[in-house]
Amino acid sequence: MLEHLNPQSEDKIMALMKLYREDTREGTVDLGVGVYKTATGVTPIMRAVKAAEQQLWNVQTTKVYTGLAGDPAFGAALSNLVLGDAVAADRLALTGQPGGTGAIHQALELIKIANPDATVWISAPTWPNHPSIIRHLGLAMAEYRYFDDESRGIDFDGLMTDLAGAKRGDVVLLHGCCHNPTGANLTLPEWAEVIALLEKTGATPLVDIAYQGFGDGLDEDAAATRLIASSLPETLIAASCSKNFGIYREHTGLLMAVSDGAAQSGVTQQNLTHLNRQNFSFPPDHGARLVTMILEDDTLRADWMAELEEVRTSMLALRESLARELRRATGSDRFGFLADHRGMFSRLGASPEQVEELRVKHGIYMIGDSRMNIAGLNADTVPVLADAIAAVGI
Ligand code: LMR
Repeated sequence: MLEHLNPQSEDKIMALMKLYREDTREGTVDLGVGVYKTATGVTPIMRAVKAAEQQLWNVQTTKVYTGLAGDPAFGAALSNLVLGDAVAADRLALTGQPGGTGAIHQALELIKIANPDATVWISAPTWPNHPSIIRHLGLAMAEYRYFDDESRGIDFDGLMTDLAGAKRGDVVLLHGCCHNPTGANLTLPEWAEVIALLEKTGATPLVDIAYQGFGDGLDEDAAATRLIASSLPETLIAASCSKNFGIYREHTGLLMAVSDGAAQSGVTQQNLTHLNRQNFSFPPDHGARLVTMILEDDTLRADWMAELEEVRTSMLALRESLARELRRATGSDRFGFLADHRGMFSRLGASPEQVEELRVKHGIYMIGDSRMNIAGLNADTVPVLADAIAAVGI
């Protein structure tokens, strides 16, 4: 039977991680996978996470199963972080998921049950795993224009024109903040226009929010998601704790389905819980428990927020110094957009050949579409990158 399997095309982010690990040259720079690194190149366990783990070790007396939808306290704490009081609790159905990817996958499975003929609209470009999961589940897919290669900003007219083609029963996948891979984000007035369009077409938004706190701040980064959820009758939201709690390998996420009212919400919850049972039964608990402890405890929460703010501002400072260094190295302002983008990533606007030259000649690793993980830089490597970009002639 297994002889009928065909090789799968490798995910480009995972392939680059492997190439980087195999490169034995001195001084290579990893701007590939989206992982936060300090100036010394480490991805630390956040202080509040470590403290919560210590407390948990002392107080936890059992590892018996939680609920099929995960610990309700986790759902309440994380949905509150994302949504604040934007929607009434009885409109919410929640399930703990293995990471943001698990939440996206589960949301798409729910969509497939609700409407197998749905077309899922994705931004051009988007995180490569979005189209991959959509294809894997056999759902139809369409792209909407998003990034303008020329300005390195948003092609808002193109976006609005394309999304006008989405119908009731379709799903529009949106990045709640810190767009991956481009770093270019809609303004709140632009979001309001997108919401009005969604209302008109009747299409359902699926919001992927994986970088809350990495852009303009925790509340600011959740503002668009809150506006969407409070304005429209239904919204699906996939949240990840990998980045903002730095608990990548714990793979902690939450799927939130906002329905029209309590009756619908009950049926949605029942379907989500059923999907958990089919896919993995109980979601992993360790990361979810740490997040709950941090969010529920004033001291831990304050320390986590302070450290997250250090992470956010250090990425902003890197953006500004890279834009400055590029002005020095190239004598041009054309990379000024880097300081305006938000989140971990920016798309540099280099050709695949130039990206390859950066890797082969300069030991600088970025994704083939020229997505850079800004958090992979530090004060020493910013000028190195700027000089290499100038040398390659990008
Ligand atoms: C990324 O885009 O680099 C991260 O979201 C990690 C991943 O799973 O791809």
